Amino acid sequence: MSLLQVKNLGVQFTTPDGVISAVNGVNFELERGKTIGIVGESGSGKSQTVLALMGLLANNGQATGEALFEGKNLLTMPAKDLNKVRGDRISMIFQDPMTSLNPYLTVERQMTEVLELHKGMGRKAAKKRAIELLEAVKIPEAARRVTMYPHEFSGGMRQRVMIAMALLCEPEILVADEPTTALDVTVQAQIITLLKELQRDFGTAVIMITHDLGVVAGSCDKVMVMYGGRTMEYGTADDIFYRPSHPYTIGLLNALPRLDHDGAELISIPGNPPNMAHMPAGCPFSERCSLADQRCHTDMPPLVATPENPQVLRACHKAGAEVFALKHKELVHG
Ligand SMILES: Nc1ncnc2c1ncn2[C@@H]1O[C@H](COP(=O)(O)OP(=O)(O)OP(=O)(O)O)[C@@H](O)[C@H]1O
Ligand code: SF4
Ligand SMILES: [Mg+2]
Repeated sequence: MSLLQVKNLGVQFTTPDGVISAVNGVNFELERGKTIGIVGESGSGKSQTVLALMGLLANNGQATGEALFEGKNLLTMPAKDLNKVRGDRISMIFQDPMTSLNPYLTVERQMTEVLELHKGMGRKAAKKRAIELLEAVKIPEAARRVTMYPHEFSGGMRQRVMIAMALLCEPEILVADEPTTALDVTVQAQIITLLKELQRDFGTAVIMITHDLGVVAGSCDKVMVMYGGRTMEYGTADDIFYRPSHPYTIGLLNALPRLDHDGAELISIPGNPPNMAHMPAGCPFSERCSLADQRCHTDMPPLVATPENPQVLRACHKAGAEVFALKHKELVHG
């Protein structure tokens, strides 16, 4: 049995302008110790997908479908049980560490408090464990720095502190929502490498959310590409990165700087993501897709296995051959 099975997940928000469907029919599975990447531009529904699983939607939000964690549905679990899962078994790191770190408490106090509360540890043992975890996330002089306050750390180091905090209870799943977006490129790469090492050492499964396909290419097993609250393409990281078969995925790849194509032209996808309150009737991507025809504007393409590779799911009316023709740009193919 998969560690996590998400089935037909939906998220609806009630607003003064009507109901907004921010996530529609999302399905994925996460095996123990594996990583899934959720990729898409701003507003595509990535965060709401995971916030729904964690029971952390805004008050005007409602989740539908199923999210089975070890066979138990997180979406209908009593609040008391869900709180326990959230503290001990599934933990989350965010783009801005200050959303989960308390600025008024030392890192030591924040970490030992969790261990005392959740693991029943004494203060001394808890401090030792806190230092071990700061060392695991490669914070130099951890024994000294554990006594510092969050604002005394640099942005990258603070992100490491948050990752150490998230690992305190040795969760089965770590959800990382754009953990590196606010950091500069070198620090980003260090944090991604760190997450990979921790995953190997701790055996944690990871849900990695990012708008950057480059981040998921080297660090994820499966990738789900989202647009307009729906899955556009789902497959292995290699399928998505080297054999993309959806026009939106190809658009994301064309917009990506690639080391192996130094100087190649970057082509951003024209236009902007759709407004969730006014979604197109047919394919969500129809207003920006160079292959769109009349049918694309009126009929929603179903998410189905591709004839070329049944492991890959895609939502597009066009045959694979037509979409592959889009890949004429060398930089897509690598
Ligand atoms: N409380 C809310 N009320 C109404 N709509 C909301 C609410 N929260 C989110 N949404 C809608 O859900 C959509 C998806 O949001 P989500 O946070 O999942 O985007 P995202 O893919 O994580 O984008 P980003 O990369 O910017 O974080 C947003 O475009 C917004 O329209
Ligand atoms: S269904 Fe049509 S508009 Fe949507 S991605 Fe495919 S070709 Fe483009
Ligand atoms: Mg988000």
